[in-house]
Amino acid sequence: MKRPLPLLGLALVAAAATACSSPSDQSATPASPTAAATGSYAMSEVAQHASDSSCWTAIDGSVYDVTSWIGQHPGGEDRIRGLCGKDGTSAFTGQHSGDTTPQQRLSGFKIGTLSG
Ligand code: HEM
Repeated sequence: MKRPLPLLGLALVAAAATACSSPSDQSATPASPTAAATGSYAMSEVAQHASDSSCWTAIDGSVYDVTSWIGQHPGGEDRIRGLCGKDGTSAFTGQHSGDTTPQQRLSGFKIGTLSG
């Protein structure tokens, strides 16, 4: 019996086209916090992010979204929770002043600067 080769060919072309179509997933949200570190936020806005589901802190005039860091901090979750919605300058520098690794980590969470 003869196989319906033309039909099979069509199916393959259709499958290839589907596989190659690029997803139009160009979301408005930047891929990383550093890419968006251009915002300007008042302390009152930082204060609205004082929970585990959204934790912002201001340190040395910059604003950081450290939500994802809560569960990763080697010094414990509660130390980061204590910064949420607040100016964490004294807590951070009191513990980590001059430490390269925490400073580098912190810079990756920057979303902008403190205004006002
Ligand atoms: C967003 C702010 C913070 C960041 C990015 C951060 C980052 C880090 C990093 C990267 C380490 C590991 C250091 C290393 O292995 O060399 C660390 C350890 C530690 N952090 Fe933080 N930290 C922050 C806030 C704080 C605060 C506010 C406190 C205390 C009030 C604190 C207390 C500690 C302690 C006690 C350790 C040592 C844990 C250990 O290895 O025994 N951290 N932190």
